[in-house]
Amino acid sequence: MTLFDVYPLYDIEIVEGKGELLWDKNGNEYLDLYGGHAVISIGHSHPHYVNKLKNQLDKIAFYSNSVIIPQQFELASLLGKITGLDDYQLFLCNSGAEANENALKLASFHNGRKKIVAFSKGFHGRTSLAVSATDNKNIIAPVNENNNVTILPFNDEEKLTLYFKKYGNEISAVIIEGIQGVGGIVEATPSFLRLIRELCDTYGTLFVADSVQCGYGRSGRFFSHDYAKIKADIYSVAKGMGNGFPIGAILIAPHIIPKHGMLGTTFGGNHLACTAAIGVLEVIEKENLMTNALILGDFLKSELKKIPNVKEIRGKGLMIGVEFTYPVEHLRNQLVKEFRIFVGNSSNKHVLRILPPLNVAKESLEKLVQALKILN
Ligand SMILES: Cc1ncc(COP(=O)(O)O)c(C=O)c1O
Repeated sequence: MTLFDVYPLYDIEIVEGKGELLWDKNGNEYLDLYGGHAVISIGHSHPHYVNKLKNQLDKIAFYSNSVIIPQQFELASLLGKITGLDDYQLFLCNSGAEANENALKLASFHNGRKKIVAFSKGFHGRTSLAVSATDNKNIIAPVNENNNVTILPFNDEEKLTLYFKKYGNEISAVIIEGIQGVGGIVEATPSFLRLIRELCDTYGTLFVADSVQCGYGRSGRFFSHDYAKIKADIYSVAKGMGNGFPIGAILIAPHIIPKHGMLGTTFGGNHLACTAAIGVLEVIEKENLMTNALILGDFLKSELKKIPNVKEIRGKGLMIGVEFTYPVEHLRNQLVKEFRIFVGNSSNKHVLRILPPLNVAKESLEKLVQALKILN
């Protein structure tokens, strides 16, 4: 059998990782400032995380949601504490797309409506409803085309207000990333997020904060939407939540009432996945990683300003986009091939995405800056 060829791959076989370092099968060392699409939050093979998972694996890895799984309660309690959303409810699933799929479905169950508002350059995943709320025609199959979703211009308050005036009573949910990731690290303005909150309150619409990439402390706050001082009705999370173990979730406001059978999953919330997520939160707390993300993010941004050909530096914490005056595909390849540094690209061909583990060392960021200086 061959692999279904959907990914352009580097000819590199990674066999080991530690912190922000990776090694290939030939023993070459790489610097991982991308975390496999923003997934590695506490560093590869963090000892606390590895020990927890090993111990749990010796006991039990999985049972379904037909029995009490104590790790789910522990995770919910830790999440309530770190987010300040103690009164929210947790539904566990397996990925970011699944989290958004459930968020939008739940909103529709809640208010009985069908219309969804999403925004230009937004990315919400590849499953049916999540992909139809994603602004990329190339990944929407005909069967996913969905007349219920309207894509409005990102950060355009006037267009959003007009749309709500016309259809407000029919809109089930607005979904928005606090900082667009795949779209090229573009922040939603605080006033745009506050307007969404206001309009949602006025019209009985639910605010879904897609925090799959910009959440989990990466921005220096637990949710990047927190910078606007608003609360969403539903937050979706995944990626950094499991540091590589597949897990996703939605955090649901107390006014949304659950009903048996309304949502469900076979794998979601299993013992091993919850253990991974608990380990991650413990490390984020113990090592003060949100503060670290802020401090190191500010340091990196100030250093990146010194690089020639940089047009704009965007983002918060360790979610940073560097927009160059030229397309960056070649530059990204040079970083990998000549300097053994991984960074990401985005749908904006001029933008490099930098998404290192939140406990990355300052020296590792300095290495990136040095390499970019040489290449520019
Ligand atoms: C903001 C955002 N939402 C949702 C997703 C989908 O997550 P997953 O690939 O885990 O399904 C992504 C993935 O890149 C994302 O960046």
